[in-house]
Amino acid sequence: IAEIILLPFAGYLLGSIPWGLVLTSTFTSVNLRETGSRNTGATNVRRTAGTFMGLLTLMGDVLKGFIPVLIAVNLTNSWHSELCRDFYVSIIILGAFTGHLYPVFLKFKHGGKGIATAGGCFLAVSPIGTAVAVLVFILFVCMTSRVSAGSLAGSFILPLAVWKASGSESLTLCACIIGIWIFFRHKDNIKRLAAGTEPGI
Ligand code: G3P
Repeated sequence: IAEIILLPFAGYLLGSIPWGLVLTSTFTSVNLRETGSRNTGATNVRRTAGTFMGLLTLMGDVLKGFIPVLIAVNLTNSWHSELCRDFYVSIIILGAFTGHLYPVFLKFKHGGKGIATAGGCFLAVSPIGTAVAVLVFILFVCMTSRVSAGSLAGSFILPLAVWKASGSESLTLCACIIGIWIFFRHKDNIKRLAAGTEPGI
């Protein structure tokens, strides 16, 4: 029972690790919060510190969502009620996601936009739904050369893909909340996309 209570907090703390900042400040002289889009996510790390650092950040941000959700899935495997199971897993997803957006280690500021961490979370619970959203993401990035356009398209499709793949109402609702949140985090990107000033890859 202790782990059931502690996991949401652990998920939040894990989600709070700002991998982009940790990696760029340890291995490069880039000040991520002052360069490029000033976002601490993998896209801006790649833009300002190179592809290798970007890939490492992507991996770190995906894993910090994937690990707590995978633990939650295993912890609740034996629960009889699917509703309770999915509801609990949704809490862990929202915990890790909130940690990424509002990291306690950075005084709740300078969080990322949530794409990689949301992808990691849903990969653990709905791999097929996530794969569909990732494919849409890739398609839009290829079509527009803008990562943000792919992120918006992928998060728009995620709830539908999770619904189709898992049939779970809680997880679909959770994906909706996350999708809407991601749109809000991309409000500057949306303005730049509309104005045609969003930087390409
Ligand atoms: O995943 C974040 C991406 O959609 C946008 O990042 O740095 O271009 O604002 P950025």
